[in-house]
Amino acid sequence: MYDLLITNARLRDGQLVDIGIQGERIAAVAPGLLGEGARTVDARGLLVSPPLIEPHCHLDAVLTEGDAGHNESGTLLEGIQRWSVRKQSLTHEDVKRRAVEGIKWYASQGALYIRSHVDVCDPSFTALKALLEVKEECRDLVDLQLVAFPQEGILSYPQGEELMEEALRLGVDVVGAIPHYEITREMGVESIHIAFRLAEKYDRPIDAHCDETDDDQSRFVEVMAAETLARGMQGRVTASHTTAMHSYSNAYAFKLFGWLKRAEMHIIANPPDNIILQGRFDSYPKRRGMTRVKELLEYGINVAVGHDSVMDPWYPLGTGNMLHAAFLALHIAQMSGYEEVPRVWDLVTENAARVMEVTEDYGIQPGKQADLVLFDAPTDRDALRTLATPLVCVKRGRVISETTAPRVRVFRGGQAEEIRYQQERIRGESG
Ligand code: FE2
Repeated sequence: MYDLLITNARLRDGQLVDIGIQGERIAAVAPGLLGEGARTVDARGLLVSPPLIEPHCHLDAVLTEGDAGHNESGTLLEGIQRWSVRKQSLTHEDVKRRAVEGIKWYASQGALYIRSHVDVCDPSFTALKALLEVKEECRDLVDLQLVAFPQEGILSYPQGEELMEEALRLGVDVVGAIPHYEITREMGVESIHIAFRLAEKYDRPIDAHCDETDDDQSRFVEVMAAETLARGMQGRVTASHTTAMHSYSNAYAFKLFGWLKRAEMHIIANPPDNIILQGRFDSYPKRRGMTRVKELLEYGINVAVGHDSVMDPWYPLGTGNMLHAAFLALHIAQMSGYEEVPRVWDLVTENAARVMEVTEDYGIQPGKQADLVLFDAPTDRDALRTLATPLVCVKRGRVISETTAPRVRVFRGGQAEEIRYQQERIRGESG
């Protein structure tokens, strides 16, 4: 007897299984499980995946688009200006209301783990205090990690280092940084040293906004790799964005890859924001400004994809659908090869789980936390192609959302014909 039984679920490897859940854990995964569920969901041979993961967003800024006037130029700089105005009217309730709404958007579309940066260049910590409450209150929907993010710099903002340390005392999970934004190269390097000292002192992982620029001279990720090795923090350090890597010479990029690999660093690309915000000073040809996702993966470096912004001063679009971010990554990184497409799915699932250090609990296996998503597609490849509807999302053993797939009918010769866009399924069934 299970609390929840999911029958006829197709795993990513194609296997058809039943998944029995007791309490917050997966109790059994096997073909044709004997037993009953207090509640049963028939997956009808569709894909059941471990949840999508959003490893990089900003819940303190989510859903503020237009509040301080619209970003008319669409640039990073105007985004920062608009945010610095909007930031002044943040209140506890305002942050909580928007963050909870954003989390509902993410979770109902299958993203059941979220890592959010939170701006700590604020001596009153309005956003941080609100998000620490949201983290506990939304535990039923998502596992949420918070990063102390010094939006205006650690050394370039008054008392920046003290604010970072206070954020750690208040309970943030991860140490952030923004070295390329500090006034000088030297201050950028020193800001990384500070972040690592704090991470070591409080035993926290690091996730820095790093080299988010088209400037090929922005080379702080090498400093992060050196610090990671010097402090033995392999596997615990993430560089987010690294868009400058797009513009490095190949000779330098491949030297860098060697050190990133030895340091076991994680890289997060954020295709929606990156493709919109980078390349803005170029005429033609225009650089894409996304980091080297495909080449890093080929080199054996862990890469994940984040959505980053959802309707904020930097990016006016989005609904928190991680398949949109993955779909963009596939195109921008040119990962359309037959075997490359499932690797794109990894970018918003398994690889992101490694970034968030949640692999112990992540996956569809007995004993793991019962988090999973039933998609309206038979395979990960098809789910990406069709941006499939997440029909049912399960978090900690509980159904937290249901979405009805659109019904499409084509009318011809007085007849209505229902169609689906699942070409692969048709091919599989006839072959
Ligand atoms: Fe970001």
